[in-house]
Amino acid sequence: MQFWTVDTLKSHTLADHEQGEEISPGVVVQRRTFLRLGLSAAGLAALSGLGLSGCATGSRATSKGGPGPASAAASADEFVAAVMPQARALISAQAPDEEAYLAAVTTLLARVEPPPTWRMSPTGQGWDIDNIAYYPPIVLMQIKMAPKSVIHLHDHRHYNGVLLATQGAARCRNIDIVQPDGNRLDVADGEVPAKGEDFLIRQNVDTVLRPRQLSTLTRDRDNIHHVEAGDEGATLVDFFTHFSPKARSYELAWDGKPYDQAKGLFKVSWKDA
Ligand SMILES: [Fe+2]
Repeated sequence: MQFWTVDTLKSHTLADHEQGEEISPGVVVQRRTFLRLGLSAAGLAALSGLGLSGCATGSRATSKGGPGPASAAASADEFVAAVMPQARALISAQAPDEEAYLAAVTTLLARVEPPPTWRMSPTGQGWDIDNIAYYPPIVLMQIKMAPKSVIHLHDHRHYNGVLLATQGAARCRNIDIVQPDGNRLDVADGEVPAKGEDFLIRQNVDTVLRPRQLSTLTRDRDNIHHVEAGDEGATLVDFFTHFSPKARSYELAWDGKPYDQAKGLFKVSWKDA
């Protein structure tokens, strides 16, 4: 399966942090708890200037926005430590403001220096995953895509995310389920058309992400996407916030041909839901 479940993430996290493993050049894990201890130290760094000061903006995150020049580099652990309190508050809120959260996260994510792409887990699909950090409810990974490789059409059920290009270029198309009148689905809560049914989706965004450009999606805005690397391939940083242990992606079947070109509609069905 190309998309990871929470259980897959857990297994990769343990596999990534075994005693004796070199987690970056010259840094060897002494104990399995190494990164958690590192996170505590990083939390102190977060308090000294990397916090989410812009989290109360309430603005809608753009699907493509240059986050601007980085004012200070941050490690992945510092990023996780800074975001964690907001992530926990978000998923426990009565009415989570995902747009404000993502707007703040993208500012901070732009400062993160991704680790070298030297410990990738192959998916067999032409793109490989490096699980940088998994501290529930946060997932930080990077994806290295071979030239012209495709991450097929899939949703992000029970989670939101940010996709930030760091190398190369990738075409990113964001899509939502079309909800017929009288059949409103609580997509944010994981309510979707049934498996085996054909249904319509509408493409909202079709853009090419280049380094420092990003795409965001919430549980019910632009939640489905299709990513295709350009001629030189692409490296992308993915940041996810899970609202439930059931968070995972499901692939959709489509032929890529518009059902209604003027309205940007396509007919699809779930492949593995
Ligand atoms: Fe995705």
